[in-house]
Amino acid sequence: MLKELVRTCRSYRRFYEDHALDEATLRELVDLARLAASGHNAQPLKYLLSWEPEKNSLIFPHLTWAAYLKDWPGPSEGERPSAYIIVLGDTEIRKSFTFDQGIAAQNILLGAREKGLGGCILAAINRDGLREDLGIADRYEILFVLALGKPKEKVVLEILEPGGDVRYWRDAEGVHHVPKRTLEEIIVG
Ligand SMILES: Cc1cc2nc3c(=O)[nH]c(=O)nc-3n(C[C@H](O)[C@H](O)[C@H](O)COP(=O)(O)O)c2cc1C
Repeated sequence: MLKELVRTCRSYRRFYEDHALDEATLRELVDLARLAASGHNAQPLKYLLSWEPEKNSLIFPHLTWAAYLKDWPGPSEGERPSAYIIVLGDTEIRKSFTFDQGIAAQNILLGAREKGLGGCILAAINRDGLREDLGIADRYEILFVLALGKPKEKVVLEILEPGGDVRYWRDAEGVHHVPKRTLEEIIVG
């Protein structure tokens, strides 16, 4: 079951925007991040939740989607995320967050997947603009944004041969293909 969850826990970028997520769902997901491992057990991560269309529309313009898909500017209206979790580092707890945010993000995305939802980590963001529009205090470093919703796209994994192209691609039917290295390639000894 875990393998299936991990296998289908892909980056989803198109959603049924009218499938609303509520605050309780986002809080449940953040509770999974709360239980994650943390360097020095400092637990410096904080979270900003957004599930209302007005707030969502303040976040969306600051995101950059799928850099490899040159002809696609990102999800159009009606296919945008219905919620976001902004992952912040509290610099009053620690100055460096090392790997905590990656573990937290994966816990959240796996939890979302278990609920039939999906999401995408977005680190290519206009941090200054986001900080200003949401009034995020200077003490918080903006690490990344998790876009969430009910996926409206099919994502499939492909085998990436050694030396092959790591770029994901979308076919004529709109299916998103993601090349992954083989087990043989990544286990080096
Ligand atoms: C740290 C990190 C930052 C990412 N930033 C972005 C981003 O800004 N925009 C985006 O569309 N995808 C972003 N992604 C998603 C990756 O493109 C995605 O993980 C990769 O294409 C592999 O697809 P998969 O997640 O389905 O395995 C990011 C992923 C990670 C782990």
